[in-house]
Amino acid sequence: MKIGFVGAGRVGSTAAFTCILYMDVDEVALVDIAEDLAVGEAMDLSHAAAAVDKYPKIVGGSDYSLLKGSDVIVVSAGMARKPGMSRLDLATKNAGIIKDIAKKIMESSPESKIIVVTNPMDLMTYVMWKETGKPRNEVFGMGNMLDSARLKERLHSFGARNIRKAWIIGEHGDSMFIPWSLADFDGDVPREKILEEVRFVAAEVIKRKGATVYGPAVSIYRMVNAVVNDTKEEIPTSVVLQGEYGISDVAVGVPAILGKNGVEKIVEYELTEEELEALKNSANILKERLKELGY
Ligand code: LAC
Repeated sequence: MKIGFVGAGRVGSTAAFTCILYMDVDEVALVDIAEDLAVGEAMDLSHAAAAVDKYPKIVGGSDYSLLKGSDVIVVSAGMARKPGMSRLDLATKNAGIIKDIAKKIMESSPESKIIVVTNPMDLMTYVMWKETGKPRNEVFGMGNMLDSARLKERLHSFGARNIRKAWIIGEHGDSMFIPWSLADFDGDVPREKILEEVRFVAAEVIKRKGATVYGPAVSIYRMVNAVVNDTKEEIPTSVVLQGEYGISDVAVGVPAILGKNGVEKIVEYELTEEELEALKNSANILKERLKELGY
């Protein structure tokens, strides 16, 4: 089994590290415009693998042909928001980068499933889907998995136990929300406070350490594992909707079954009126931004 990474920065390389430790990968390929970084990460990762008696083939470089035959390609390459950059500034720059990556992936490994991480992730997932022309089940984004992990951490910190289901869905951004009607755990918690804390914790981490790394990396591993090991797990995933929840032509986070075919099923729950409105609000915000990007 082979996993490709476009972007060998902190998130991409840590995601590769996590997959190598937790999974039985045969091959890992890291591609980055910074060729030396990709080569250095590949070398370092091969030493980590050997430290636990694993010897996958791990290669790095700037040539997309290294990705050939990947079961899944994780795309985290792109610019991080700099001070003073608006969300749309970031989207405009990264849409151009994603468009280029889409073309190169289709030339080198057209069969691969693609997991998009580059922010603003929902928009970049749509751009990737549009520019590759792949079926929507093969191009999806990691965001709400991470948001949901942050939610579970907050729930536990406020005394919730036996957390059986706790999701964030919608935009991987300010309009994300918690469908409390789907949540299943023991205990009472301050709902509004928890939502606020989850919405803005990434900025808190970035302010202190410059980027979020471990949370995204392990969330990426969870989605990669679901696909390559066909686990059929239900994971909140950004995927292009075509009528589900009454929403079309936009990628937004919804509950989905992940397996060997990528997004194998979009799960349509009976949300409350308020929850459905919140999901449509996320979709409308994202659609407006897609229009500004020319989609
Ligand atoms: C975060 C980035 C990955 O939420 O969007 O940490």
